[in-house]
Amino acid sequence: MVEFTLPKNSKITGKGKVHRAKKAKGAKLRKFRIYRYDPESPENPRVDVYEIDVRGVSMILDALIKIKNEVDASLSFRRSCREGVCGSCAMNINGANTLACTMGLDAAGSGDISIYPLPHQPVMKDLVTDLSNFFKQHAYIEPYLRAKTPDPEKERLQSHEDRVKLDGLYECILCACCSTSCPSYWWNGDNPGGEEYLGPAALLQAYRWILDSRDELTNERLDRLEDEFKLYRCHTILNCAQVCPKGLNPAKAIAEIKKLMVNRPDGRGETESKPASAKTKEHA
Ligand code: SF4
Ligand code: SF4
Ligand code: FES
Repeated sequence: MVEFTLPKNSKITGKGKVHRAKKAKGAKLRKFRIYRYDPESPENPRVDVYEIDVRGVSMILDALIKIKNEVDASLSFRRSCREGVCGSCAMNINGANTLACTMGLDAAGSGDISIYPLPHQPVMKDLVTDLSNFFKQHAYIEPYLRAKTPDPEKERLQSHEDRVKLDGLYECILCACCSTSCPSYWWNGDNPGGEEYLGPAALLQAYRWILDSRDELTNERLDRLEDEFKLYRCHTILNCAQVCPKGLNPAKAIAEIKKLMVNRPDGRGETESKPASAKTKEHA
């Protein structure tokens, strides 16, 4: 039985700081309650309240940037593209994992807005989590094309029909919203040196390469997922599909891999365990 042990100093205690907005005519004020943690301080985490004028601010990320620029430069968070493409601004907003750059203030209701780091990951500072384990798991599924046949003179071609089969899989931006909202991943996702559940993001990508008509190591890929933890700790709770900001369905991909495991032929031929839909290898 796994036991949760909260790291020392991880509980939110005491009162956070309150930053009030200056009164201004016509100001549209909103309050943000933001998790703060400083690894260099002996103090436990706290929640600070920032009241700001949100006129001209449309997205949650814009509000965070305004707070950092105008109120408190010590607030730390990740962001890069501001377009829902890089995945770096993933955080927990009003109780759900999502991207701060694609969530509008209007989608956060009319009350105060609570912002926390992604759940169940080590916090490095404020809203910045350590995703080393998440990316190690992504590397484990070997997220690149693998083939046994010699390289062709030019690229390995794929028919339009086979390419379309990857829709709903290739769009993942590795934001980690799904894995860090998965209760099974919370329990089983991090077991250094032992068996661990790879989580919905890594498994979605595993299926993306299993399904790719150009990839020739389907059986080896299935072998790497074949134990009690890596794949089978998904219990179809579907939090992953609910939160994915790109509208993907990792749970469905996981179910497809499970079906493939069951249908593996004893002979383990290289192409026999491809799903029927992926067996065609016509090249355009
Ligand atoms: S469906 Fe599977 S991967 Fe998705 S949240 Fe549930 S247990 Fe996790
Ligand atoms: S599947 Fe969706 S939620 Fe999960 S990492 Fe990819 S984009 Fe993010
Ligand atoms: S800043 Fe890139 S996804 Fe939000």
